[in-house]
Amino acid sequence: MHVILYMAQTINGIIATENYSEDFLSDTHWKGFLSLAKKTRCFIVGRKTYEAVKKWKDYTFDTIKAAKIVVSKNKQFTLSKAYVLAHSPKDALEKAKKLGFQNVLLAGGGTLNSAFLKKMLIDEIIISVEPCALGKGIKIFSEENVECKLKLLEITKLKEGIVQLHYDVIKKEFRKKK
Ligand SMILES: NC(=O)c1ccc[n+]([C@@H]2O[C@H](COP(=O)([O-])OP(=O)(O)OC[C@H]3O[C@@H](n4cnc5c(N)ncnc54)[C@H](OP(=O)(O)O)[C@@H]3O)[C@@H](O)[C@H]2O)c1
Repeated sequence: MHVILYMAQTINGIIATENYSEDFLSDTHWKGFLSLAKKTRCFIVGRKTYEAVKKWKDYTFDTIKAAKIVVSKNKQFTLSKAYVLAHSPKDALEKAKKLGFQNVLLAGGGTLNSAFLKKMLIDEIIISVEPCALGKGIKIFSEENVECKLKLLEITKLKEGIVQLHYDVIKKEFRKKK
């Protein structure tokens, strides 16, 4: 399974404010997400992202023509009909595979991104950087003890000063643990 992580963030790696707002991000990032979701036809999100997006007025996951997998430890968590529930990153990928997908889009948030990275399950990372900084908020990787080395593939300058960075994940330890 090939996993592509796509995230929109501030220059200092913040993907949402502490109260789950993404109002500092341009609409261009959502379009980037939609375009990748159209390509992979399957995306995976954490339970908190699913719930945050459900409250939005102008954007929704519901109408996206893709398999939508939500990850939660809660086996009783109830989802709308078009969504599939998974209980770990591995379970999410197994469910995607059973549905016939070989490529999936991992779409946050920071906690789920970390869980995938910890298990070395991310193959590519595409980061869309908004020209702004926020001191506080939810980070792209929420746990402090995750790390990986990347190979830069491409830099694309988009409108409104947004820069998109595309990386391959190098799947080996790059620092000796003390
Ligand atoms: N800017 C962007 O590109 C972008 C993209 C996506 C999301 N976001 C924002 O990110 C925020 C949410 O991020 P977040 O880090 O707080 O939450 P999150 O990663 O979306 O969701 C966290 C939840 O996912 C489940 N989960 C995570 N790891 C798991 C694992 N290993 N096994 C089983 N379940 C697991 C747990 O659900 P349970 O508690 O139910 O067990 C956990 O509480 C939202 O504000 C959203 O808008 C921004």
